[in-house]
Amino acid sequence: MRRVTSITDVRAAVRGWREAGQRVVFVPTMGNLHAGHMSLLEAARAHGERFVASIFVNPMQFGPNEDFAHYPRTPERDARMLADAGCDLMFMPDVAEMYPYGSEGATRVEVPGLSDILCGEFRPGHFQGVTTVVCKLLHIVEPDAAVFGEKDFQQLTLIRRMVSELCMPVAIIAAPTVRDADGLAMSSRNQYLTEAERARAPALYRALAAAAGRLAAGERDFPAIEREGLRALEAEGFRPDYFAVRRAVDLGPPEAGSAHLVVLSAAHLGKARLIDNVQVRL
Ligand code: PAF
Repeated sequence: MRRVTSITDVRAAVRGWREAGQRVVFVPTMGNLHAGHMSLLEAARAHGERFVASIFVNPMQFGPNEDFAHYPRTPERDARMLADAGCDLMFMPDVAEMYPYGSEGATRVEVPGLSDILCGEFRPGHFQGVTTVVCKLLHIVEPDAAVFGEKDFQQLTLIRRMVSELCMPVAIIAAPTVRDADGLAMSSRNQYLTEAERARAPALYRALAAAAGRLAAGERDFPAIEREGLRALEAEGFRPDYFAVRRAVDLGPPEAGSAHLVVLSAAHLGKARLIDNVQVRL
């Protein structure tokens, strides 16, 4: 696996492969890789012959009181994991390479509306940072396809919308959430949990799965299902930001006849803010 840090080098490598007729699949990450990221690379395999992963902790998607400075950075371990998984190119730019004029005043890409609901309501500016960096990375790498995890369901929805509206010639592939045996979705931020909090953390998935079960059974009192989800999380010591039933296609409010729903939640447990979701197809 080659390791590159400049836009010029990543472009030259990818263009060479594409000229040779090879399809290139891209997995953007913020590093500190775990089995969830490895499953994105696994999903990539079905869509091409060459694989590029980026490692970039994007300052633009962190709020002023968030964990940008402390976000776990493990580049050497990440490089070994990517090489073992058959990745061809690891792109690890620094902040100046990605934001030559600084990240604060940089040109931005925003999907209005969708960026401001759910997590966007509690993390102002976060999704603008995500869509901006993903747009830049897709322009830099120019892949045929890019893989994103369903765990970040709102992020995935926003990226699909951005790619469609900006006519970007890339297929967006969704990879299912990878969970520990007790149901907790894998996340770099699970490291912030104490042992006691880690033992309680699967309650988030249980609450989402219970709500999905009620929806699958035909219940349509969405506010009652949301209230019960919030109550269950508070009973386990979480401080929930939201627990919401939405249409999976656009995260709009569900209707009685909606055939594809998603239940999403974000909740604080100790120092960690956990997010997760469960889809329901009727
Ligand atoms: O999901 C992530 O790790 C990040 O939000 C992403 C897509 C790599 C953009 O920084």
